[in-house]
Amino acid sequence: MAPDPFYVTTPIYYVNDIPHIGHSYTTIAADVLARYHRLAGRTVHFLTGTDEHGTKIERAAAANNETPIELADRVVKRSRSLWEHLEITHDDFIRTTQPRHERVVQDVFNRLHESGDLYLDQYEGWYCASCENFLADDELAEGNCPDCGKKAEWAAEETYYFRMSAYEDRLLEHLREHPEFVRPEARLNEIRSRVEAGLRDVSVTRTSITWGVPLPFDEKHVIYVWIDALLNYISALGYPDGDLFRAFWPADVHLIGKDIIWFHCVIWPCVLMALDVPLPKTVFAHGWWTHNGEKMSKSKGNFVDPVATTDAYGVDPYRYFLLRSMPFGQDGDFSESALVGRYNNDLGNDLGNLLYRTLTMIEKYNDGSVPEPVDLPAGSSCVDATTGLREVAAGVAAAGGFHSQMADIQFSRALESAWELVRRANQYVEETRPWDLARSDDRVGELSTVLYSLAEALRIISLYLWPFMPAKIDEMRRQLGLEPVDSKRVLLGAAAEWGGLEPGTRVCKGEPLFPKIEEVPE
Ligand code: MSP
Repeated sequence: MAPDPFYVTTPIYYVNDIPHIGHSYTTIAADVLARYHRLAGRTVHFLTGTDEHGTKIERAAAANNETPIELADRVVKRSRSLWEHLEITHDDFIRTTQPRHERVVQDVFNRLHESGDLYLDQYEGWYCASCENFLADDELAEGNCPDCGKKAEWAAEETYYFRMSAYEDRLLEHLREHPEFVRPEARLNEIRSRVEAGLRDVSVTRTSITWGVPLPFDEKHVIYVWIDALLNYISALGYPDGDLFRAFWPADVHLIGKDIIWFHCVIWPCVLMALDVPLPKTVFAHGWWTHNGEKMSKSKGNFVDPVATTDAYGVDPYRYFLLRSMPFGQDGDFSESALVGRYNNDLGNDLGNLLYRTLTMIEKYNDGSVPEPVDLPAGSSCVDATTGLREVAAGVAAAGGFHSQMADIQFSRALESAWELVRRANQYVEETRPWDLARSDDRVGELSTVLYSLAEALRIISLYLWPFMPAKIDEMRRQLGLEPVDSKRVLLGAAAEWGGLEPGTRVCKGEPLFPKIEEVPE
């Protein structure tokens, strides 16, 4: 076992197209969790990757006059560079075409075959190539896939079925005993009622395509892409006996979008039960983004492009906006005007200004070095304000504050909690009026305490915000005269307590962290 392991995963993305805002959302959320837990001293394993087999990829490649692997190689290159650009710190990147993955997939199918969980039969029914999903007659919406709206195709082929129906009772029991298995709660209820309606066996091999992992004991079949894909979460750890598997399984959290909960919250746990492998602790399904109020689609050509958006507004504001906009689990709308609004208000006016005015005052009133705080004289007008500021800082760290929200995977609430300190510190400036204190010689002690407290509040804020905006926060720390956050050092906990800042630290004011952006019309 790694000390205090934390294993977080994203879905592995199809390689038919380069990632858009939706994919970047999950990946950024996973990155924030990974950075946060590393900072809190846990041993983190963060996995992302690509889903490269199946009809959808086979057809996308053919349409491009490429082989599927050529297409995959090309898109993987773009995806990797996008993740680097977005400051994603995954520990591993799995591709389902890698031998290390295919080996595990075949091994799993041998096991399922031996345990009697598979049987050969005929599949006749509908298939959605876009979702790679088998659909029952009563699931179709006027001949179309109920999820993506594309035309369903008739499929008739020999297939191996997985006896998923045999796991219905065990799955229901698991949902009852571990309600945290599916989050948020609305998704748990949805899954529970669908499972209660009855589980059918699921087709897990295909004979009508060739682009997939061959079934080891019957080579005219390839393995159904969804089972192949789900297994990435354990193949990347070297299931069944790899060191990483021993150290990190079961996963702490699979982050996914709400459209793929059936695969993750029903099919996946049933497969794991059949293998006698413990289930992941939590599958968290986030909501979907629309763009200016509209669903994004290829036909409309209205996908938000993470590269163009971050070129215009910066990577960290984009990361911040995605996680701050709505509670994790709910749907949200992306618009440039909303992004600019948050940028100017939260980042520019609240955070950026706090830093700028604090550093300006430290330079002006104390020659650029953080002063030594003093015990405030009784009767000083700064006593209550300073106590208040310190109480807010303690409140952010206390139960119900930032850490509770992060443990609960509620990014927007965690940020709100950190922002209480940002706002309180700005208010503190107004209340203590350092420019007045600076005018009288006998208030030097109070001025020192006020300036120290502001710089200290900013140091503490930097620790909370770093997982969300690593580059901007490292720059903020540089201006504060602090080292960049080194995620190998445990900086949360005791280090985030009041008083950690060394008096005498030399600050170095730079350009405003978040210069104002022209408002974008609605
Ligand atoms: N390959 C499968 C996942 C296999 S995991 C074992 C897949 N890939 S995907 O590339 O189509 O989508 C990946 C993720 O992107 C899904 O979680 C999906 O919810 C998410 N999103 C796609 N469009 C989205 C939005 N508009 N908004 C938010 N997330 C969205 O599914």
